[in-house]
Amino acid sequence: LRVHIVKIGGSVISDKTRPFSIDYSTLEKVACALNRCIKKRCADALVIVHGGGGFGHYVVDEFGSVNSVEAFLRTVEVMRELNAKVVEVLRLKGVKALGIDTHAVAEFRGSSLRIDVDKVRTVIEMGLVPVLYGDAVVDIEEKSFKIASGDDICWELAYLLKAERLVFVTRVPGVFVGGRVAKVFSLSRDLRTLEDIGVGGHDVTGGMRAKLLKGVGKIKSIGAVYIVGFDPRIVEQALCLEPEVGTRVVE
Ligand SMILES: Nc1ncnc2c1ncn2[C@@H]1O[C@H](COP(=O)(O)OP(=O)(O)OP(=O)(O)O)[C@@H](O)[C@H]1O
Ligand SMILES: [Mg+2]
Repeated sequence: LRVHIVKIGGSVISDKTRPFSIDYSTLEKVACALNRCIKKRCADALVIVHGGGGFGHYVVDEFGSVNSVEAFLRTVEVMRELNAKVVEVLRLKGVKALGIDTHAVAEFRGSSLRIDVDKVRTVIEMGLVPVLYGDAVVDIEEKSFKIASGDDICWELAYLLKAERLVFVTRVPGVFVGGRVAKVFSLSRDLRTLEDIGVGGHDVTGGMRAKLLKGVGKIKSIGAVYIVGFDPRIVEQALCLEPEVGTRVVE
């Protein structure tokens, strides 16, 4: 099964400086682009993951962590709400989207994140498009609550499913190196010197640097990884051919 995974950044579909705002116009355009990819059969199967944006990031920032029962429940609640909206738009645009609550299929055991990948695989084999998201999850060893970011979920799923492609769609057009979008970014060579231009608004999982860092050790098992902006044409290219702009991430 040729699996493609796309992360719709929370920064793309919402405004991280404005709590609980959804950018429907961008979400609709991205949903249409994804539907075109499915229609063109670029991949046998697509998995969609979205981030926390002005929902999860804002709530966790306000509480300071997800450690308390209140913070955990509130995070789960708002992320479910965002997921429901994303799934609704995807369905309206023709995608056979199935929202999957990350906290129900994922858990931490200490530092290692476990995902019920068999369930995800079965669902895609049945022709559905699972839509997971960055969420608060339980650590069943430590009996605590932790954040599994959308990026964590993407890299782990891509690794476990040996994805042919992993595409991160973000607010920026790619990874900036020396003021320009790098065409290629090597995790082993370029991470040490990556300049951090900061993340605007509420953020609890660390922006571009953290996104890239999480791929170390996993990228080997993944066909191709791209980081692109939210231009629907570029998103389509990144999933189906090669994007004319954006950053290809390599080992
Ligand atoms: N060198 C860099 N190149 C590109 N972006 C960078 C760099 N350094 C920091 N960033 C920041 O990282 C951000 C992307 O990460 P961010 O977590 O905000 O997006 P996201 O993962 O799509 O959103 P979410 O976490 O809600 O899913 C960019 O918007 C930018 O502000
Ligand atoms: Mg992020």
